[in-house]
Amino acid sequence: MLAQELNEQLTKVAGGTPMGELLRRYWHPVMTMQELERDPVLPVRVLGEDLVLFRTEAGSLGLVSKRCPHRGASLEFGFPEGDALRCCYHGWKFDTAGNCIEQPNELDGVDRRARGKLAAAYQVQEMGGLIWAYLGPLPAPLLPRYDLFVREDMDRNIGVTPSLPCNWFATMENSLDPVHLEWLHGHYFNYLMKRKGKPAAINVKKHLQIAFDVFEHGIRKRRLVEGADPQGDDWTRGHPILFPNILAVGASDAPEFQIRVPIDDTHTKVFWYYARPRAAGAKPQTEIPVWENAYKEENGALVVETVNGQDMMAWLTQGEIPNRDVENLVSTDKGILLLRRVVREQMEKVARGEDPLAVVRDEAKNKIIEVPREDYGHYTLSGGMTTSASVADEYTSRKKELSTTK
Ligand code: FES
Ligand SMILES: [Fe+2]
Repeated sequence: MLAQELNEQLTKVAGGTPMGELLRRYWHPVMTMQELERDPVLPVRVLGEDLVLFRTEAGSLGLVSKRCPHRGASLEFGFPEGDALRCCYHGWKFDTAGNCIEQPNELDGVDRRARGKLAAAYQVQEMGGLIWAYLGPLPAPLLPRYDLFVREDMDRNIGVTPSLPCNWFATMENSLDPVHLEWLHGHYFNYLMKRKGKPAAINVKKHLQIAFDVFEHGIRKRRLVEGADPQGDDWTRGHPILFPNILAVGASDAPEFQIRVPIDDTHTKVFWYYARPRAAGAKPQTEIPVWENAYKEENGALVVETVNGQDMMAWLTQGEIPNRDVENLVSTDKGILLLRRVVREQMEKVARGEDPLAVVRDEAKNKIIEVPREDYGHYTLSGGMTTSASVADEYTSRKKELSTTK
């Protein structure tokens, strides 16, 4: 396959494209619950579709086309009423299934509501402080109950990067690329610290081996670093990407999901989902804090002095859509080749009408899905990776209030 053809296949997310169709077989988080509590009607752009997410006065959730079918005003300026949403312009009223249920000024008595149906209305569910949407064909699969979203013994916080100017697939290739940890988050980080006269941030160890295993929910990655025990969790267990767009990272005492949701071909919304085991006897949190994980400093420079910022810098500096024509893949890129192959196999399954990898339809298997991760590994915050407290603390020390704008 030509590199350009491969690139199109991997990066286009609109409906009708192979990747767009594959992505539409999965649930995706589109907003935090906290944001919708602040404003019950919010615009959402996901998989190249312009939509409006709303909560009705009766408490139902809706996700519908943004364009009002009357004369096109944006429903993001609509207002909830009863169990529906009214367009602000002439008051047409829509239910969560996208039906037009009222056209209040049609005085000639003719019922034209059938013509007012919204172009799209999608299923929405809440889980773990996030609002999840399914944009694919029905019947929808189950929303997978991955452990960190549903465990009752953990407290959580959610960082949001609302719109990162890069294609989502570059973010996933980064997750199948274990050696970047040694360089981007290791030697480069320490170089930045040295220039400031500060101590090294990361205790860097050279990678000796990397390995990948496809399993029921995605691809697990493992690493063996210099001086590490081959019986240790880094090499025997590792941690996975959950198909198609969640990275599970961090040891069991500080686990995290990173969820990379395609906004469109050139923008990605990232949810940085942190869960921490609650201390014995401590009260459960009453609200999940939400904060903005900015990829730029106040002065406009890219954030490079945090692990998250370093990843975002690497993703977006590859270009909005990386040119795979001019890349030079080497032996340590074998995880990237595997990811591309597995993705293309899933596209073929979808084209045959089959469910792709990690689609869950069995209630009995979905009470809670335990995600494999290290209990102790060198390259985890608790396992000796950091030499500076500020690295472990960056997630809370750099947080910014998330602003929601229309
Ligand atoms: S444009 Fe929405 S009711 Fe007229
Ligand atoms: Fe990284």
